[in-house]
Amino acid sequence: MDIQWYPGHMTKAKRQMQEDVKLVDLVIELLDARAPLASRNPDIDSLAANKARLIILNKADLADESRNREWKEFFEARSAGVILADARKPAALKKIQNLTREVCREKLERDARRGIKNRPIRAMVAGIPNVGKSTFINSYAGKAVAKTGNRPGVTKGRQWIRMGKDLELLDTPGILWPKFEDQQVGKILSWIGTINDNILNIQDLTADLIDYLKENYPGVLNARYQVEEDASAAEILYAVGKRRGCMVKGNEISFEKAAALIMDEFRSGKLGRITLETP
Ligand code: G4P
Repeated sequence: MDIQWYPGHMTKAKRQMQEDVKLVDLVIELLDARAPLASRNPDIDSLAANKARLIILNKADLADESRNREWKEFFEARSAGVILADARKPAALKKIQNLTREVCREKLERDARRGIKNRPIRAMVAGIPNVGKSTFINSYAGKAVAKTGNRPGVTKGRQWIRMGKDLELLDTPGILWPKFEDQQVGKILSWIGTINDNILNIQDLTADLIDYLKENYPGVLNARYQVEEDASAAEILYAVGKRRGCMVKGNEISFEKAAALIMDEFRSGKLGRITLETP
């Protein structure tokens, strides 16, 4: 399978990110907890050079709990702050505020030496499409004490969302582009829904997912679809199509509909908590 995906608007997004990052002290990088490496664009390291950094392993509710712990340790060994989160729930706010103080300690101390008190940390969220950036911002915008207005000159057209007394979040996320030189990473990104389905062969993609699940999460397909897991991916697609009534005209089983159904159920967590990469 050959996945190529470099939409032209990513160049514009990168330029925007380069501008926005100048306005902040802290970059909050959102990764998909199910595939933290595939969903990470390493260019963030140069884009956010000299900024305090926080990593949110988002959609942790969809990922395997033991892998979540491993990935958290993996990134903690490499960066200052890591939080597992479900961006739909504002529960992580307290943790974020605490960690922010930690990763921004240097800046806070510098401010204090200069007699600057109570200047909030300014942060922005960044990540590849579909990792949950807007959801994250909206969760906190809902909790926000106040939306601060534009700052003349510096932040024209930008809104800041106040998160408690020490933190302000830029209301527009930085969009990074997914980066994949190898097809395996492209495939993982398709599985988690980063890449638009209509440019892909859903049957091949789902067949590969079935093989991944059989090997790494035995029993999951059987539990959901009552299929024999020693069957081939094509046989499993057929069996699921039959069981779930995925038909096309002439009363034939549709492999394509069965594939879309499995993919959809995987993405929404109906197959259980599944992680696609190991540290
Ligand atoms: P983006 O700005 O980074 O592109 O992502 P966005 O917030 O639009 O989120 C993409 C999808 O992921 C949304 O679902 C959103 O609800 C979901 N999502 C975000 N964070 C989490 C999380 O922590 N856990 C889970 N389970 N889902 C999350 P959608 O299918 O586009 O819309 P909807 O079905 O929620 O209406």
